[in-house]
Amino acid sequence: MSDLEDRLTEIVGAGHVLTDGDLKASYETDWTRRFTGESRCVVRPADTAQVAAVVRACADAGVPITVQGGNTGLVGASIPAGGEVLLSLGRLTELDRVDTLEAQVTVGAGVTLEKLQQHARAAGLDVGVDLAARSAATVGGLVATNAGGVRVVRYGSMREQLTGFEAVLADGSVITRLAGLAKDNTGYDLTQLLAGSEGTLAVITKVRLRLVPLMTARSVALVAVAGVAEALDLLVTARAGLPFLAAAELFLADGLDLVRGYGRLAAPFTETYPAYVVLECAAPKDQTDDLLEVLAESEAVLDATVASDAAGVARLWAHREMHTEAISAAGVPVKLDVSVPLAELASLVDELPATVAAIAPAARPIIFGHMAEGNLHVNVLDAGDLAERVTDAVLRLVASKHGSISSEHGVGRAKAHWLSLSRSAAEIDTMRRIKASLDPAGLLNPGVLLP
Ligand code: MLT
Ligand code: ZN
Repeated sequence: MSDLEDRLTEIVGAGHVLTDGDLKASYETDWTRRFTGESRCVVRPADTAQVAAVVRACADAGVPITVQGGNTGLVGASIPAGGEVLLSLGRLTELDRVDTLEAQVTVGAGVTLEKLQQHARAAGLDVGVDLAARSAATVGGLVATNAGGVRVVRYGSMREQLTGFEAVLADGSVITRLAGLAKDNTGYDLTQLLAGSEGTLAVITKVRLRLVPLMTARSVALVAVAGVAEALDLLVTARAGLPFLAAAELFLADGLDLVRGYGRLAAPFTETYPAYVVLECAAPKDQTDDLLEVLAESEAVLDATVASDAAGVARLWAHREMHTEAISAAGVPVKLDVSVPLAELASLVDELPATVAAIAPAARPIIFGHMAEGNLHVNVLDAGDLAERVTDAVLRLVASKHGSISSEHGVGRAKAHWLSLSRSAAEIDTMRRIKASLDPAGLLNPGVLLP
């Protein structure tokens, strides 16, 4: 073992410095199987002090660090390029008592979203962010990527939940700001700077989060519509008529086919339709009547099925939530996560298949996502070695519609090359200067976010 591994072993103990290829393997390939990279070793500190000591040891040795949470990211940000120390935060699982007075909680970066949800619900509150990877995705990663998910229409993305943080800087120093004041205009907002910084500015070790009221009455509708324009008409009616609207999701006929085959799900309707919307109301009292009223009022609805019991709600959500797994079971997709102004959403969906086919005629684009934010997940199966060219064509199409090349997954390694499609030279230069001032040696997540 080298001096660095010796020092890391002194800090975290021999059992938590992994150098064996077999033991490192699960950390070195991400969930998508698209991103793989060899680390020098995997280090698993137990608390903030150990994280700080690990970062200091790496800084002294001049060895870069890849930061990893639950490894559920979709843009390669938690996978080393080659030779980094892989810093896994999975053991930072501290869960403080829920502060019901402030409706906030402080948690370690390695707590999974599901554990946090259970913890908040036991105290009569809930987490404003929810997403399908909840059982493995960790809070640190959710903040570092500013994750979105299915509740953004109601509560915003991860940064909206964030009221404080603790983080280790690239020199091993620690910033702790966990009081969670509801109002605090004292200088630059470093908490928000770290949200979405993808591990490039600091290693988040703890976060303080705002919690939301626990909504026990859920009513869900799976709605068939003629296309994206009609889905958006329905959204407008739903937003106006449903004060407790908590989700508005979109998928298309080919996505439903894939999910039904994968999950062995019965057909939700006797006919097939071009597009489908999932609407959810989550409230203290049952909203099913309001939901039915909106469905009756909207001319966009071709057919609909509604549930308000737990099993029915889960059954309807499965059509949307199983998309990621079903696609992954069919191959290793090119995963693109984009957003456009809502006025451009229908034309984007119309133009995407031809844009992909022009590059890779055999490829299969599966499109789904978070309709209310104009956020589409464009998953392209069977692109083979044309993946980069497909990425380029899709992201250019999105940029031509004033959209974003990264709506909620982050830029990571996957899209760093295309950053200039969504950010001006002046913005990228400013980002570089922030990076250089916080991490002058480029130690944290090199190659991620900034090209
Ligand atoms: C989703 O909304 O299901 C996630 O962002 C995952 C994905 O894009 O596959
Ligand atoms: Zn998503």
